[in-house]
Amino acid sequence: MIFYFSATGNSEWVARQLSERLDDSLVCVNNIARNNFSNTTFELDSDERIGFVFPIHSWGPPAIFMKFIEKLNLKNYTEHNAYAVCTCGDDTGFADYHLKKALKKKDIELCSFHSVTMPNTYILLPGFDVDPSNVEKRKKEEAIAKIQKIADCIESEVQDKKLLHRGSFARIKSMLIYPPFTKQANGKCKFTYTDKCTGCGICQMVCPSRNIEMKDGHPEWHNNCTQCLACIHRCPNRAIEHGKITLKKGRYYYK
Ligand SMILES: Cc1cc2nc3c(=O)[nH]c(=O)nc-3n(C[C@H](O)[C@H](O)[C@H](O)COP(=O)(O)O)c2cc1C
Repeated sequence: MIFYFSATGNSEWVARQLSERLDDSLVCVNNIARNNFSNTTFELDSDERIGFVFPIHSWGPPAIFMKFIEKLNLKNYTEHNAYAVCTCGDDTGFADYHLKKALKKKDIELCSFHSVTMPNTYILLPGFDVDPSNVEKRKKEEAIAKIQKIADCIESEVQDKKLLHRGSFARIKSMLIYPPFTKQANGKCKFTYTDKCTGCGICQMVCPSRNIEMKDGHPEWHNNCTQCLACIHRCPNRAIEHGKITLKKGRYYYK
């Protein structure tokens, strides 16, 4: 059983690839979050593996995914093989530290934690943008071989350090930047719509935290934004901005 969260499709694609290779079933955490976490109890078969697939948000797991872990109840869990695979634009830091700590409270121990570098989606700060198309293409191509290697590791229950890219200053990023990011990523946001908005409602449909309401045919953001950026990237008319910083930034979702 693979529990996956994905804002812009990278992690969903990775989860689907793993599901095909490992024959593990898929559970979409976006849907669980949209249903207000009303169903977080799952029954395991004796030989079932447990997978966690998610994007890196500021060198840790997304706040909304951590909330899911907090509420997760796995019936019949004993010594099942548990693994995690994260997707990142560059590097993961010590995201595994935060995930393992949350899982330990559930008595779940990870056999392995690996990463797949995918096209970047973070665009809210100066210096961060989506990748140029040649980089996007290269990352997607390289991911295919890496996912196969990761699937082999999962099957044989081994950790291959070469398949986890922590990057530089990993500890500092995950211990000093991730905690305040996670706190502020659970509240107000500066998203607005422009006159290109047609009121199609896709932003509302893709928001995992139900933070968007359509009012008078246009989106209105409330104070429960998890900063996954699904709304801004998936708008088909490029009609969403975040202050002025995103005016000249690209948009991306996995196609
Ligand atoms: C809020 C936010 C923070 C991010 N932080 C990081 C990061 O710390 N390191 C990194 O390499 N990529 C970072 N990224 C990029 C994503 O992890 C990456 O593009 C991921 O594959 C997106 O997955 P998804 O399409 O499944 O949502 C961040 C993206 C977002 C939206």
